[in-house]
Amino acid sequence: MTQVLPAGSDAEPTSPFLRACGGLPAERTPVWLLRQAGRYLPEYRALRERHSMLELIRTPELAAQVTLLPVDEFGMDAAIVFSDILPPLVGMGLELDFVEADGPRIGNPIATPRDVDLLGVPPAEETMAGTLEAIRIVRRELEPRDVPVIGFAGAPFTLASYAIEGGTSKNFTRTKAFMLSEPAAWKRLLTKLTTVQSDYLLAQARAGAQALQVFDSWAGRALGRDDYLRYVAPHNRELFAAVGRAGVPVINFSLGTSAYLADAAACGGDVVGLDWQLPLDRAWAEVGYERPVQGNLDPATLLAPWRELRVRIDDVLDRAGGRPGHVFNVGHGLVPQTPVDNVRRLVEHVRERTS
Ligand code: CP3
Repeated sequence: MTQVLPAGSDAEPTSPFLRACGGLPAERTPVWLLRQAGRYLPEYRALRERHSMLELIRTPELAAQVTLLPVDEFGMDAAIVFSDILPPLVGMGLELDFVEADGPRIGNPIATPRDVDLLGVPPAEETMAGTLEAIRIVRRELEPRDVPVIGFAGAPFTLASYAIEGGTSKNFTRTKAFMLSEPAAWKRLLTKLTTVQSDYLLAQARAGAQALQVFDSWAGRALGRDDYLRYVAPHNRELFAAVGRAGVPVINFSLGTSAYLADAAACGGDVVGLDWQLPLDRAWAEVGYERPVQGNLDPATLLAPWRELRVRIDDVLDRAGGRPGHVFNVGHGLVPQTPVDNVRRLVEHVRERTS
């Protein structure tokens, strides 16, 4: 088992990604991309023809193989373990499936406070053993190349929205109705999710993850600032406080929170993940220049011709101004239509411009 050291006691990292996460000057601006191992890659699509999504996730050798695809193909500066935010819900008692062209589905969504009370909070070592083993394999593979492995989990609101809606939602009506009509059960639900997710994140660090990213994809899309502060922020704060004990940098990524970015960032995490709503310099100023940032390129720009994509990449780099503590990334996941060549050119361009 990897020894987890308290924050600050580790030797200074050498990889550009971990240096940027620590706010340290790096030999170049590190780059990796959200959903870098997904359907835009022909090798991934070929594997998906033979295996279901859950098979890929639960078979450590296959998950490790998928994780490594974009690192080998484009020279990404970090690997994110191949999984999804939803599998930990299965251990709690929810039935999960990934339906072709329809996304994730929960077969028995939560409708009543009693459903919340029936959810279990089992340890990740039991329920997520496949992903933890995939992290160990990838770490062994990438250690000699000094490419760090990132573990991840969903934030409580985002997971609650799947558990209640039964899938991805446009307006989060059921989730918000439950939150507003059953505030005590809402609190119990988010508390259980926080327990399961913090245990899972800590287990990923013990398995060898050298950074952790928390995805709060939907809280900002669903809620105004007051509801965010009341129904979400206390749980996110608890999650980041617990995960801070992992001794690895934690990335706090949320989508659609630019109207209250400072409040979302104040929940915790070492690095703040940015969507593309605000230009990078404005978002960074709001977060505070002492916090490292990651992200900001609109993933749709990768669907544009290179001459346009290049302008957008340069804009993000210009606005970062060469400051230490910048991880180049997209502001949300790559879409399946992304041309492989644009990913390759993006990585090469960031590397050439910042070396
Ligand atoms: O970045 C990576 O390559 C790591 C793997 C990863 C996946 N999902 C693989 C995946 C990560 C980090 C996630 C996180 C995730 N999953 C989030 C948070 C980030 C975000 O995008 O907001 C959310 C909300 C989910 C839930 C989810 N999983 C949705 C909405 C979908 C369907 C839509 C889509 O983009 O496909 C998934 C399925 C999913 N997760 C796929 C992959 C590669 C496609 C499944 C397939 O192969 O058919």
